[in-house]
Amino acid sequence: MIDLQLTDKTHDEERQGEALVIDAPEVRNGRKLYIESYGCQMNFADSEIVASILKDQGFETTGDYHEADVVFINTCSIRENAEQRVRNRLSQFGAEKRRNPKLVVGVLGCMAERLKSKFLEEEKLVDMVVGPDAYRDLPQLINQVEDGHKAINVLLSREETYADISPVRLNGNGITAFISIMRGCDNMCSFCVVPFTRGRERSRDPHSILAEAQDLFDKGYKEVTLLGQNVDSYKWKGPDAEENAEIEVNFAQLLEKVALISSDLRIRFSTSHPKDITDEVLYAIAKYDNICNYIHLPVQSGSSRVLELMNRTYTREWYINRIDAIRRIIPGCAISSDIIAGFCTETEEEHQETLTMMDYVGYDFAFTFSYSERPGTLAARKLEDDVPEEVKKRRLAEILLKQQETSLFRLQQFVGKTVRILVEGTSKKSDKDLCGRNDQNAMVVFPATTGVKAGQYVNVHIDRCTSATLLGTIAVEVPEIV
Ligand code: SAH
Ligand code: SF4
Ligand code: F3S
Repeated sequence: MIDLQLTDKTHDEERQGEALVIDAPEVRNGRKLYIESYGCQMNFADSEIVASILKDQGFETTGDYHEADVVFINTCSIRENAEQRVRNRLSQFGAEKRRNPKLVVGVLGCMAERLKSKFLEEEKLVDMVVGPDAYRDLPQLINQVEDGHKAINVLLSREETYADISPVRLNGNGITAFISIMRGCDNMCSFCVVPFTRGRERSRDPHSILAEAQDLFDKGYKEVTLLGQNVDSYKWKGPDAEENAEIEVNFAQLLEKVALISSDLRIRFSTSHPKDITDEVLYAIAKYDNICNYIHLPVQSGSSRVLELMNRTYTREWYINRIDAIRRIIPGCAISSDIIAGFCTETEEEHQETLTMMDYVGYDFAFTFSYSERPGTLAARKLEDDVPEEVKKRRLAEILLKQQETSLFRLQQFVGKTVRILVEGTSKKSDKDLCGRNDQNAMVVFPATTGVKAGQYVNVHIDRCTSATLLGTIAVEVPEIV
């Protein structure tokens, strides 16, 4: 068994909720913020919190870093190549800084948290390093930089959820939005850096989640995605809205509450964890038409031995049991996965078990990765990264090929049928086409028709498909699959 204690230095440094007393920086209007985000949806959602905090300081956002006063890069540490991309981008910002020495360059997010002050030593052009729980401190840190100092705050918190901050929606389509319902992760999967960069798991007050979802709906949004590293362990305890009783809310109950806002508001969520997803959650999805029939349930590996080394705390049999429950309770539910190829000591037979798991589930979609050792994780400390690079590559290619075939097979099931979709806007490839997703999260592209616009639900007859997209035409008949 792997040691489960959260004893990493990051956690020893936690702020544990004490108030930080800081002078409120003066608001100066007209300054411009450029913010670029990498990594998971939670990081993108965090950038919207950051934009909101800086908006209160008079900053407006710009899409062009050449005209910015402050450039932030919200970073990801999940794999080595994610960090490399950030470093490459930073060298481009460096060129801009040489042209405009007053430009403030800040590194936010998971790389900031992982590398802490080392970042300031390694990357000379960086002025500030700010971890994911320290964004309320940004105005003060910017002041510090403008006074000629380097600035850093990488304290993690046990309480921070930014519940009271109303995010500024960045690069949005005005139709779909993310809502963070929790932060951090307590799971300690042995390959994963997230518990170190995001700290302890904490759930956000459901009243603030519901208020945010209602506000989005009132503004014309039609779909919200509830975000957490492990949404199934959402748990909140506290006073109810009238404050006359203590209530406890789990994820299934939260889903129901959000679904009841309006049947016209679609609900999605990510990520579900195989060890925690309950039948209660599945029944909630089945009960409400507006909770989408789509579950992202990362398997990581099909081998029980590898899963144990990964500290995922479930076996192949347990995972299959959860898949069977989904198929039984929500027929037609789409399922996607994350899969890692070439984890420490993975044998050829164990890799085959991943492939047979993929056959069993028939994933609609999968994110596939080659194992990348991350400093400080349990695997880096206790296991040898002994699968040669070319073997990882070959196994990843086999996984990818199988997924492409399965994705195509899944999408072909919709051809000839009529599906209901939420129009998100014009298609990336042609402005003569519109696009949107069906309930199962498949992208549907169809020719624009007069009167049909973003935010509407329409029925589309599917004529054909590729392995990634359904292609169709607006239909008059009612959907056979909703
Ligand atoms: N909380 C989610 C995953 C977040 S990270 C969950 O538990 O499923 C997203 C994905 O990145 C993981 O599911 C995993 O497949 C992949 N990943 C994480 N660390 C990795 C590493 N060190 N090497 C390769 N892939 C990794
Ligand atoms: Fe990482 Fe595991 Fe937490 Fe997901 S559940 S964020 S993989 S530690
Ligand atoms: Fe990356 Fe941090 Fe998300 S490491 S995947 S940005 S939680």
